Amino acid sequence: MMLTDSRRRGFIGGNLLASDPSQSPTPALACSENWGSKLGCILAVAGSAVGLGNFLRFPGQAALNGGGVFMVPYFVSLLLLGIPICWVEWSMGRYGGTKGFNSAPGIFSVLWRHPISKYFGALALIVPVGIYMYYVYIEAWCLAYAWDYLSGKMSRLSDPTSAETYKKHFSTFVGESSNGFLLRGSLQESVVFLVIVFIVNFIFIYRGLTKGIELFVKIAMPLLILCAVVVLVRVLTLGTPDPAYPERNINNALGFMWNPKVAPGASIWTPLKDPQIWLAAAGQIFFSLSVGFGIILNYASYLRKDDDVVLSGLTASSTNEFCEVCLGGMITLPVAFLFLAPTDLTPEVITSGFKLGFIALPTVFARMPIGDLFGAIWYFMLFAAAITSSLSMLQPAIAFFEEGFGMGRRVSVTCLGLMTAIGGLLVVYFSKDSLALSTMDFWIGTVCIFILATVQVITVGWIFGVDRAREESKRGAAMQIPQIFWFIIKYVSPVYLLLIFGCWCYQSIPNEINKIRELHPDDRGTVLLTLSFIVILLVFFGMLVNLAGKRWKAEGRI
Ligand code: ALA
Repeated sequence: MMLTDSRRRGFIGGNLLASDPSQSPTPALACSENWGSKLGCILAVAGSAVGLGNFLRFPGQAALNGGGVFMVPYFVSLLLLGIPICWVEWSMGRYGGTKGFNSAPGIFSVLWRHPISKYFGALALIVPVGIYMYYVYIEAWCLAYAWDYLSGKMSRLSDPTSAETYKKHFSTFVGESSNGFLLRGSLQESVVFLVIVFIVNFIFIYRGLTKGIELFVKIAMPLLILCAVVVLVRVLTLGTPDPAYPERNINNALGFMWNPKVAPGASIWTPLKDPQIWLAAAGQIFFSLSVGFGIILNYASYLRKDDDVVLSGLTASSTNEFCEVCLGGMITLPVAFLFLAPTDLTPEVITSGFKLGFIALPTVFARMPIGDLFGAIWYFMLFAAAITSSLSMLQPAIAFFEEGFGMGRRVSVTCLGLMTAIGGLLVVYFSKDSLALSTMDFWIGTVCIFILATVQVITVGWIFGVDRAREESKRGAAMQIPQIFWFIIKYVSPVYLLLIFGCWCYQSIPNEINKIRELHPDDRGTVLLTLSFIVILLVFFGMLVNLAGKRWKAEGRI
């Protein structure tokens, strides 16, 4: 059912005709918006999910972890973690919305009536805001590359078919040689595009839910799928691009990505005994579905009381899986296989989204007939996928500023803009070897996501209770969540998550600490500074949530 009215609901005192976003709510009468249509909401959640993770991260993870073999833990994680936690977030979000809250601290406060619960909600603000600070920068690279293909700059590079050319180009483009490189001397292209993309994101956020995010995803989602399909058709019809290398044909290219790879003599089950493959699969599912980001929680809070959360959650997840497996999985690595020597496709290139996306693929486009056009379409598609995700990373904090402090849209957008600009500046300034970026990606984009997902599933399974959650999910649902999933939510997902997280801490944290120890003192300084920034972010949001909590208590809302 398409709902086209933009009714707004006030939780104290009904609507405020806040059609001008700058005239947003007064403290006591904060209001929230609703999605203009169910399709808009599903596309917004799907848009949040479909991003760089689908087209760059997934192929790399799959190829590195045994190709077809990876799909076993991948689909197990989808069924035991991705879909159940996604339903949990949709149900929690809509429940919070019906109690008048759109921000995670408020939603946690009504799910678990304990003073500490709102601080868990703080984590659901820090994760998206923290990820935004570096994600928007990679988004800017995509737009810059699309522009460079369109303007012919890429083909004007000297020796455009050599991987070395793009390595040098990328290294200068992101200032890998030294800290501060991008902010010295003349304006660098990556910084110019970062400023443009940053502003575009905030313009759409400022316009609000229906006139900004919803309007944008309704155009961007079909467009990005169309662009991806165009590139896919091109890849699948390439046949054997270079007769000198008959083995580099499309069949072998798809096999390179999808055939199960096991050591000679080993059974297909042998690689599955390694916990690493399970960790990689779970991490990919979280990142890709945007589960554990605090985003679905916020988006679902804008649903109406009787909007379907079960089918909507499933539709958004299926759209993401289609884009990831059928588009991302069939394009990125197969096309690289067709044009590059096997020695160019080292594990390092494959797993690094940067190297695969910004060094290996430009080499491919340079060798492909009318590669400039396909390069432009591809990077524009990546940009569209990334911006629908980055928009969703801003809205949770905007909702918190508005309902926690009664800020108007203009003030909340300005505050969040300044805050994320500081983080963005940190990433841009400390550009040497992209250390600040990768540190934030590891600690916020991986560790915090696992923690938040665990907190959410335990809150719903054990504190709010699966019986109440089941009743909540049934309202307005065209289909019911199968009974088995409630068992999974209560027992399997938390145990699975704690097990994976335990193994992961055991394996990765000592490695990370050793890596920091072995760094050059200047680089160690960069990592420690970035970690301090993350701690400051945690403390700062903790303090804000504390203040908002006092205010909500005084208003009798929690
Ligand atoms: N889910 C988003 C992506 O895959 C963050 O890029």
